[in-house]
Amino acid sequence: MKNITRSNLTDTVKSSFSNIDDERLKHLVNRLVHHLHAFATETKLTHDEWREGIAFMHRAAEISDASRSEFTLMSDVLGLSSLVDLMAARPGATEGSVLGPFHTRGSPWVGNGANLVRDNAGEVVLLQGRVTDIEGKPLANATIDFWQNADNGMYWQMDDSQPQDNLRCQIKVDADGHFELATIRPRPYLVPTDGPVGELLRVSHRDAWRPAHFHIIVEAPGYRSLITEVFDDADPWVEKDAVFGVRASLVRPFTPTTDEATAKRLGLPAHYLKVDLPIALARAD
Ligand code: BEZ
Ligand code: FE
Repeated sequence: MKNITRSNLTDTVKSSFSNIDDERLKHLVNRLVHHLHAFATETKLTHDEWREGIAFMHRAAEISDASRSEFTLMSDVLGLSSLVDLMAARPGATEGSVLGPFHTRGSPWVGNGANLVRDNAGEVVLLQGRVTDIEGKPLANATIDFWQNADNGMYWQMDDSQPQDNLRCQIKVDADGHFELATIRPRPYLVPTDGPVGELLRVSHRDAWRPAHFHIIVEAPGYRSLITEVFDDADPWVEKDAVFGVRASLVRPFTPTTDEATAKRLGLPAHYLKVDLPIALARAD
């Protein structure tokens, strides 16, 4: 018989997981037990509080489905998603930022220079970039996966008034790593607050706004994939993102531009906004 006491409980639980074969998983489970027990000890967690915590997780599970993960949102508003992003940063490489819930694989492939504006209201933006390694060598095999919200703040998946795949695409860069696409200025957006994460934001008197942003995933063979965002420096919410995704290097000017030749080439209005985005990828480890 093992008499479980307050002083041997944590070590006993840890050793119950010591036969996990995968060393990394064993370490993660060990540290999870350690910090969960330390949390409960430090806060003197009561039965009522623990039950409420479990009920909160139940509500998160109930509202989640294939197209909505309340657990991801929880990780985002707790800053855990951003912590993992920041720890994965490599010197010289473009900084990462949160993926968010509206990325779905399989966006339509379009040619470099595509115009996504179609029937969308909003100010027209020309997004131009160049994908290189951290020494500045162009990565001719890089691909861009792009998505953003419409002028009403919604992503196409949330909004029946938008056509399927509105404002999202994939692009192959050219031989010199360049890419460009015409789109609209993104809008600030409220993260979903109808679930338990909304309860947490409300009791904390926290805002649910995310600053206006483009989402981009950049991939190139032999290089670390980059999941990042580009923020509009004119949006006041860059000061206070509900999910802590803003990095100074990703906040870009949306510069008013008139360039007749470019406007003609890409089917833009005479006055448009231009955003430049240099992207550097680190080699895969
Ligand atoms: C978004 O970018 O749309 C987003 C990111 C994190 C949580 C919710 C939404
Ligand atoms: Fe987003």
